[in-house]
Amino acid sequence: MKRLSLTAADTVQFSRIVRGLNFFGAMNMAMLERILEGLQLCECDRGEKLCVQGEAGDTFFVVQEGKLTVSVRKGRLSLAKKVATLGPGDCFGEMALLHQAPRNATVACDTLSRLFVLPATHFQAVLNQNPEFAKEINDLAAARQSELDRKLD
Ligand code: CMP
Repeated sequence: MKRLSLTAADTVQFSRIVRGLNFFGAMNMAMLERILEGLQLCECDRGEKLCVQGEAGDTFFVVQEGKLTVSVRKGRLSLAKKVATLGPGDCFGEMALLHQAPRNATVACDTLSRLFVLPATHFQAVLNQNPEFAKEINDLAAARQSELDRKLD
């Protein structure tokens, strides 16, 4: 994962993407600045894994560019099943952060991809500030968990 410098245009794009999740809600300016200071932009090669099922995770991702596959396996010896494809505007990595648990699935890049990366501490601060965001992201995680359960049946 290569870290890129984040331009003002990237920050605007991030803000546009996460508006649909009520990410900034009624956040005050100081908090908004603190969150954006923690934001990173990274480039990842095809085949690179950003989340590995069963491993600890401490980041939340928002896809700027590229295509990624979410896959899950029941046990170490079983084959991985594809669960979803993620692309620009999609987010992932929320489940481990919400539940302080290991990653529930593996997310790998199908193409060269660019991602906004937010550390867990900043993600938590946004959750604390915005009940609307907390609801949206919990609903999203619950829907994804149901899909994972279905795949693993
Ligand atoms: P996390 O468990 O932190 O790491 C793996 C991520 O894959 C997970 O968070 C979700 O963001 C994502 N994920 C899991 N299941 C699905 C799904 N059904 N559709 C899309 N993304 C998923």
